[in-house]
Amino acid sequence: MNAPSSVLDADPDVRAGVPAQAQVRPCTMNIGADIEGIDLSRELTPETVRFIHDALMAHQVVFFRDQHLSHEDHLRLGRGFGALAIHSGVAGLPDYPEVVAIHADASSRYVAGENWHSDLSCNAEPPMGSILYLQTVPPVGGDTLFASMYAAYDALSERMKTYLDGLEAVHDGELVYRRIIDDPTKRFPVNAHPVVRVHPVTGRKALFVNKQYTTHIVGMDRDESRAILAYLYEHCTDPAFQVRFRWEPRSVAFWDNRCTLHHAVWDYYPQVRSGFRVTIQGDKPIAATSGGRP
Ligand SMILES: [Fe+2]
Repeated sequence: MNAPSSVLDADPDVRAGVPAQAQVRPCTMNIGADIEGIDLSRELTPETVRFIHDALMAHQVVFFRDQHLSHEDHLRLGRGFGALAIHSGVAGLPDYPEVVAIHADASSRYVAGENWHSDLSCNAEPPMGSILYLQTVPPVGGDTLFASMYAAYDALSERMKTYLDGLEAVHDGELVYRRIIDDPTKRFPVNAHPVVRVHPVTGRKALFVNKQYTTHIVGMDRDESRAILAYLYEHCTDPAFQVRFRWEPRSVAFWDNRCTLHHAVWDYYPQVRSGFRVTIQGDKPIAATSGGRP
């Protein structure tokens, strides 16, 4: 039996201006959807951009197969969803500063994203989303796991939700980039964000801490902060909140950093995994206590 089609497919208004063969197929109940029938190398109609955006808002991460994207195509695709960000830790390509190369091979000592995280949560305005296009993937392995921070928040007890609402945590780029960037004078962003944020489009609450960037909860004893964060990190990676994406050559994943964590599994050494990422600018996270939907 085929996976159920998204409710988006049933909305006749969404279909106008969208390729007739476009389909959204959810991967799990909580997170992830495959989008079929859209060629991302073409200039997308505003309706198709809306179709993809609606699917992203509903499913938090969307996947495309067998795409053929030049750097210009990749940039145009990203700009359809907002202004692009220049990475605050890693240099982009010389001629395309908004495009960051993602590459691992036999000479790699580390890989990007090898821990659960939301991209650049250390920034004052963390990115809205990231679009990763991999051209070369290992024969097996190299999957990316995504976890829904809506589902993680929703599954907490009411007492824990009350406890966390209103707290802030510090996110520090130093934790990630100091070991990668060989420049002792470089400074990386460090910012405090709400532990529970309200998504600016959907109005849903999402947990917003991650093992890669978060150092501590503000105004809390160090041991208490460490214990609460350890609990949240374990809770956030419950398999029930996850989808696991198996890459093929020329697959694209587009995720919403405001309501997901992801983890790139490095289980393919010494094989090559290589491609490019663009990142869409976001805005300052909104605290859950500030009144819900903005
Ligand atoms: Fe990442």
